[in-house]
Amino acid sequence: MTRGRRWSAAVLAVALLAGGCTDEDANARFRPGAADLGDPYVPGAGNGGYDVAHYALRVRYDPASDRLTGQATVTVTATAGLSRFQFDLAGLTVDRVRVDGAPATHRRDGNELMVTPAHGLPAGKRFTVEVAYGGVPQPLPSGELGDGGFHATGDGAIALGQPESASTWYPVNDHPSDKATYDLEVTVPDGLAALSNGVPKGQSSKDGWTTWRWSEGSPMASYLTTLVIGNYRVSTGTHAGKPLVTAVAAGLPADGPAARALARTGEVADFLAERFGPYPFDAYGGIAVADERIRYALETQTRPVYGPGFFRGDRPNTEVVAHELAHQWFGDSVSLSRWSDIWLNEGFATYAEWLWNEHDGVRTVAQAFADRYAVTDWTKPTVDPGRAAMFGDAVYQRGALAVHALRRAVGDETFFRMLRGWLAERRNGTATTADFIGYAERIAGRSLRPLFDAWLVGAGAPALP
Ligand code: ARG
Ligand code: ZN
Repeated sequence: MTRGRRWSAAVLAVALLAGGCTDEDANARFRPGAADLGDPYVPGAGNGGYDVAHYALRVRYDPASDRLTGQATVTVTATAGLSRFQFDLAGLTVDRVRVDGAPATHRRDGNELMVTPAHGLPAGKRFTVEVAYGGVPQPLPSGELGDGGFHATGDGAIALGQPESASTWYPVNDHPSDKATYDLEVTVPDGLAALSNGVPKGQSSKDGWTTWRWSEGSPMASYLTTLVIGNYRVSTGTHAGKPLVTAVAAGLPADGPAARALARTGEVADFLAERFGPYPFDAYGGIAVADERIRYALETQTRPVYGPGFFRGDRPNTEVVAHELAHQWFGDSVSLSRWSDIWLNEGFATYAEWLWNEHDGVRTVAQAFADRYAVTDWTKPTVDPGRAAMFGDAVYQRGALAVHALRRAVGDETFFRMLRGWLAERRNGTATTADFIGYAERIAGRSLRPLFDAWLVGAGAPALP
């Protein structure tokens, strides 16, 4: 006790000489950042205490050994005083971490990379974190939601997955509420393609290896990043003055349904832009993979990835193209703050399929609505469906029914003005269901609460508006 008091007096004296701030005071301003963002759909995902602005990733992948080596430079702003912070990183070995160029200590705890910088980081401070890492990346354990993460494919690899995948190939704040811009350099053996998001920034070759460069200048949620390496037929052109890059796995027929569906990317995007407002990004595209483990398509930003199951018939499936391109507005440009609101992505993307099918002469929206209405299980909620049901009919189909009910209630002119206004106002941001309902009520000039309650979460079939 006495000793302690005497010690404190000494510290105080030093502190007074040093300008009034003791080490203890300083340390009290710095705490470890939270280990996740508290989203119950993805326990452990995301991290607290900071916000990422940009990821600069340099990755080398050798399909012969499945080894990836990476160098990530992450630009971060502290949102709280941090003594320590963490990234999500699944598997892989970290060799070195630097914070603002100075060595930092690091340790792993499961799928977390904990970084302790030499000095605390005050709230508001912008800093860079460099992580050198490598190993043989693995997919995340596949649950009822299907595979996500990095899949080695023999000739290359496919990194893809929702709600999580990014942490299998780079250190990341893996939650859609922290969007960031990206620059990516991928080095692969000569002859292989290395595709990713955004604007192509060219290729260069050296010593048997080719480096492909990609840049996504609009904020992107981490699950919307993709890396696809292998033998692909890559076609590079422009659409509406922006780069359009499509790629079809060499294992799929050159003029088959996948190639023919992807060839309509620009046309479908223009159709949607007429309804939703200007296409939100600087590049277009799509990637058709042949790996049967990819049993879904995903709206990876600017360049959706399509699994082989969508292109089995001989008719090109443009419905899935309309769905994934609609996500460029709903989900990618305007993203989720939390996964329980996933209907904001899927309900609108499914509704876009209905719009496209009507335009394409397949079936009217009214017919799609009536067919779905008849088979809907109204006991299953669209909002907060539970993690296991996040890709279920209550989200996709009942979500689309709710969108159409809104259109019926407010009329076509108000409805499309509402969608365009919402997308413009929230562009490059995130939103919740309450935000959407609030916006819709503002534009409609009246309460829409009973309508949304009935169509999104009510336990019985709502009356048709
Ligand atoms: N968001 C994707 C889509 O609507 C679906 C992803 C499904 N993911 C899965 N693991 N089953 O097209
Ligand atoms: Zn979707």
